[in-house]
Amino acid sequence: MRTERAEAYRLAREEIRSVTGGVDDALANLANMAAVLFDRLPFSWVGFYRVSGEELLLGPFQGKPACVRIGKGRGVCGKAWEKGELLLVPDVHAFDGHLACDPASRSEVVVPLRRPDASVWGVLDVDSTEPNDFGEEDAARLTEIARLVEEIVSRDPVFLGL
Ligand code: SME
Repeated sequence: MRTERAEAYRLAREEIRSVTGGVDDALANLANMAAVLFDRLPFSWVGFYRVSGEELLLGPFQGKPACVRIGKGRGVCGKAWEKGELLLVPDVHAFDGHLACDPASRSEVVVPLRRPDASVWGVLDVDSTEPNDFGEEDAARLTEIARLVEEIVSRDPVFLGL
């Protein structure tokens, strides 16, 4: 991975810790975390979807307006939720069932977000307008970011339905 991008992920983690310090409210923290990631990294869209019954419901994000509800197993987000694993899609046009919320989106990574009991409460979704923009290093760094998001959101048990 390019040094600048590795450094951008490091700075994003640092800034996330700083802006969420002393704040327990999950909605406020998710909003600021989406803003930090969008500001620091060359993503065309970054945000969160939250599990609501049998659907994912749009949460805080940065970028163009997006699909509000995504069924389980639908699109990259619904599939990552269903499988409970990170999905890295180098070319969204080649992904069967991709939801083209933003027609300019060409590659995408979705990481499930879990409660301390391991149940999935949402996903982190990042998109790029460049095809093949994400590699294994991005997957590793975005997994670290997802762990950080889980840690921060666990301060708000009401948000997690606990
Ligand atoms: N493309 C996604 C939908 C969400 S947007 O990209 C913000 C998908 O197929 O899950």
